[in-house]
Amino acid sequence: MNMLMAIIISYLIGSIPFGYLVTRIWKGIDIRDLGSGNIGATNVWRNLGPAAGLLALAGDIGKGVLAVILAKSLGNETTVLLASLAVLAGHSYPVFLNFKGGKMVATGLGVLLATNSTTPIVALVAFLIWLLFVGVSRYVSLGSIAAAVSVSITMLVLKEPWQVLVFGFTASVLAIYKHSSNIKRLLNGTENKIVFKNKK
Ligand code: G3P
Repeated sequence: MNMLMAIIISYLIGSIPFGYLVTRIWKGIDIRDLGSGNIGATNVWRNLGPAAGLLALAGDIGKGVLAVILAKSLGNETTVLLASLAVLAGHSYPVFLNFKGGKMVATGLGVLLATNSTTPIVALVAFLIWLLFVGVSRYVSLGSIAAAVSVSITMLVLKEPWQVLVFGFTASVLAIYKHSSNIKRLLNGTENKIVFKNKK
């Protein structure tokens, strides 16, 4: 019963669309009409600037952390892993936004930071990979895809239990799948690059 409760609550927590709420409440606009159309922090930052982007980022990371902490208080390791998948599913397919949600990167980071004693290392490696790829290419999506791949590889290297490996692999594949439109744009050269505006 506790396991089912943890899964349902985590899905609902994941479904809270922080990027959408920040732009709707702060600026009265729908982030889905702007830029890439994604509700994630990257698109919020791209269109509304760093303050709104960081707020969306904090909310999306926070819901991953919160779901894991809640699951830990309700059940065992299996409960935590299923709740982790549920919060990611909620973020990507939110019940409050007609099941059209984000790409799992920030919420995945939150989950990895909180799941067990070794997953923060997985999160740190993923973040460094993300920084490297974004720094060199200026494509946030390329960094996110590389970071998603690194999650499975780092978990294998750290010899995580098979349940954690299944979770990590599933999350990596889903995150890459959620970047399908970015992959198409990367391949045809139309993906959004980070642009640093010169001060006048
Ligand atoms: O985390 C999402 C990022 O990888 C891509 O965002 O808005 O460029 O599709 P966006």
